[in-house]
Amino acid sequence: MRLLVTGGAGFIGSNFVRFALANHPDWEIVNLDKLTYAGNLANLTDVAHHPRYAFVRGDIADRDLVARLFQEHRFDAVVNFAAESHVDRSILDAAPFIETNVKGVQVLLEAARELGVRKFVQVSTDEVYGSLGPDDPPFTEESPLRPNSPYAASKAAADLLCRAYHRTHGVPVIITRSSNNYGPYQFPEKLIPLMITNALEDKPLPVYGDGRNVRDWLYVEDNCRAIALVVAKGTPGEVYNIGAGEERENIEVVRAILRLLGKPDSLITFVQDRPGHDRRYALDTAKIRREIGWEPSVSFAEGLERTVRWYLANRPWWEEVKSGAYRRYADEWYGRLGLPVG
Ligand code: NAD
Ligand code: TYD
Repeated sequence: MRLLVTGGAGFIGSNFVRFALANHPDWEIVNLDKLTYAGNLANLTDVAHHPRYAFVRGDIADRDLVARLFQEHRFDAVVNFAAESHVDRSILDAAPFIETNVKGVQVLLEAARELGVRKFVQVSTDEVYGSLGPDDPPFTEESPLRPNSPYAASKAAADLLCRAYHRTHGVPVIITRSSNNYGPYQFPEKLIPLMITNALEDKPLPVYGDGRNVRDWLYVEDNCRAIALVVAKGTPGEVYNIGAGEERENIEVVRAILRLLGKPDSLITFVQDRPGHDRRYALDTAKIRREIGWEPSVSFAEGLERTVRWYLANRPWWEEVKSGAYRRYADEWYGRLGLPVG
């Protein structure tokens, strides 16, 4: 099975590449990644020379490049992780979110339509459903799409394009909508790695608003296993929610991190709330449990401990990210294969 994995140098994508190579000996992976600020080849040093893995630097919105790769490799499946993924950045500038999350997805869908694949997995998010009140039931796959941030709106737009390409052109698209992931190699702009690394540097921990927004935290390896199962067993045209049922208020998460690190609560600083800040996400995951046979295996307590241990053991990784030195890996790739990467 030949897979095109896009965005494989990012957080979830790099965990997925590693998981897939280790657990699916018959899978060959081409990783197409633009290496934006969020893409880091240091996330993949251990598999860089793996015989079933190849890296291509490029943009999923680059029609010619994507067509060339499809023609050359005749992919059986696509797993699209490539995206602009940070809500706060989408508030500052939504344009790159439209380019990659909407136009890029259309380019991939078009290539899949023209050259044919057996599965096209679009990695989406629970944020497309909008926000829940404290007593609302969790979102099901049938819940309406009510995105509130430009990020969520761009992901919802991609989901709708995926649906249309399945209905109109028969592209075998499957959408996964997962809750908030955490674990090794997450870029320290997201809540958990930002709080761990700031605490390790004795810097303030900025908590938005009253800190009582709720997220359902999913350990990244559980998501990777779910996505791999969807590649193998998912039904085209279907949507699968993926969540751990581990709802926590942000402030609880931050306090748990400080306890694990032996750092004082006085590092917590309440700051101005994010505009349009969704109050609560929660997912009903009965469908993927029933139809695919997946369930989460790592509790939040266990996953957070593993994550904190990883950031403690991999200080050079996140120090290079925070200082910007990690960009040298991307610079080394600039211009290779003559690809226009911007
Ligand atoms: P990330 O920001 O860590 O990584 C994104 C990767 O995509 C980077 O390697 C980046 O270089 C690459 N990329 C960006 N634009 C590109 C382009 N135009 N062409 C090729 N590559 C490009 O993101 P992540 O947290 O790993 O998320 C991966 C996917 O999962 C995203 O689609 C995101 O919407 C979705 N998701 C993430 C979470 C989460 O909690 N992190 C939860 C649900 C869904
Ligand atoms: P984030 O990791 O950005 O994920 P998302 O917004 O996609 O859920 O944020 C998770 C939660 O943490 C969200 O409610 C916003 C909050 N948050 C903070 O309170 N402070 C921060 O510095 C960040 C980055 C997030």
